[in-house]
Amino acid sequence: MTTSNISENISETAAADPLTERVRATWTAGDFGRIAKGYERGAGEFIARLNIDVGERVLDVATGTGNLALPAARGGAFVTGVDIAPNLIDQAKLNAEQEGLEITFDVGDAEQLGYADKTFDTAVLFFLLHELPAASRRATLREAIRVLKPGGQLLISEYGEHGRTHWLHRFPPFRAVLTRAEPFLGGFWKENLSDVLHECAQQVGRRIELEEGTDIFGGFYRVRRYRAQ
Ligand SMILES: C[S@@+](CC[C@H](N)C(=O)[O-])C[C@H]1O[C@@H](n2cnc3c(N)ncnc32)[C@H](O)[C@@H]1O
Repeated sequence: MTTSNISENISETAAADPLTERVRATWTAGDFGRIAKGYERGAGEFIARLNIDVGERVLDVATGTGNLALPAARGGAFVTGVDIAPNLIDQAKLNAEQEGLEITFDVGDAEQLGYADKTFDTAVLFFLLHELPAASRRATLREAIRVLKPGGQLLISEYGEHGRTHWLHRFPPFRAVLTRAEPFLGGFWKENLSDVLHECAQQVGRRIELEEGTDIFGGFYRVRRYRAQ
């Protein structure tokens, strides 16, 4: 499948429903690119540990400025990055161009990806899920599973499952800032990610199992690798 096949109809799939438009406006408004710069190295190290094979098809869902997409492409993968914010996709394209990397960047909605079933070997969700309300989170997970090939891996990096009881979150000023900045994080914390993934996989006629997990910074963050069948 060519990259143009993969990205066909992408503009139609980014439907103009009010919630999607609000999310797009929010992410388009600030300059998330400046924040993303701050953890560019960490994102690169995350990708390096995944041992992505040369020639693998990788989908970076909510790619932002391409913090994960670029290092994956440097390693020889065929990478597609999709994000709802056109300005961030523009920055991602520029970043790839400056390095001479060939990456397909699409403006699109994680809840309705414009890619065929079973297209990718790897899908990456790097700090997206906690940004979404429960229904959007589920739609996003269903889509990520749907586009994975059987045997494909889903990599999720997120706030840790015990983040709520972490010392940092028990520090009131920090908790106040985080609660204001991340209105859906509380709901995300209440759910069991593996249970939600099993449910979502079933809904798209697939199965998914947890393969490996690492907790970071005393469990405030987590990385999970799931395998789809
Ligand atoms: C916290 S940032 C993470 C960006 C990137 N993964 C990184 O780590 O640099 C969240 C990203 O999700 C994107 N986003 C939010 N909702 C989305 C949706 N429904 N579909 C696609 N992208 C979305 C935002 O535009 C933003 O780039």
